[in-house]
Amino acid sequence: MKNEIKLKIYRVNTELSHSSHWNEFTLEYDAESVLLDLLLKIFNEQDNTLAFDKNCRIGLCSSCRVKVNEKIILACSENVAQFVAELGDVIEVSPYNTLKAVRDLVVDPQFESCTRIKVTL
Ligand code: FES
Repeated sequence: MKNEIKLKIYRVNTELSHSSHWNEFTLEYDAESVLLDLLLKIFNEQDNTLAFDKNCRIGLCSSCRVKVNEKIILACSENVAQFVAELGDVIEVSPYNTLKAVRDLVVDPQFESCTRIKVTL
């Protein structure tokens, strides 16, 4: 069975401007959908300018880390039906660190390496 969700996604492109805004997308999801599926659906069907990171798609690399209503999650691992049950069907998706966002949901890779260095020390 398909359900509908409204994603409000943080948009910024620091190459053009440091001002940000939110875009809303309405999407269908099913019991198996994870947030990354919906981001890919937006990119493929509605707005191919949406920027986000992904790599392993199995919850190992953390490259898909984003914030959903102030909670940091991995987009490839977070079941959409589960967070709709917790948070409702209007969800805000933003970079896990908006101050270091370079484009939409993508965080500056130099900030990423600093974070990784701190974690391994
Ligand atoms: S893509 Fe690697 S953890 Fe999500």
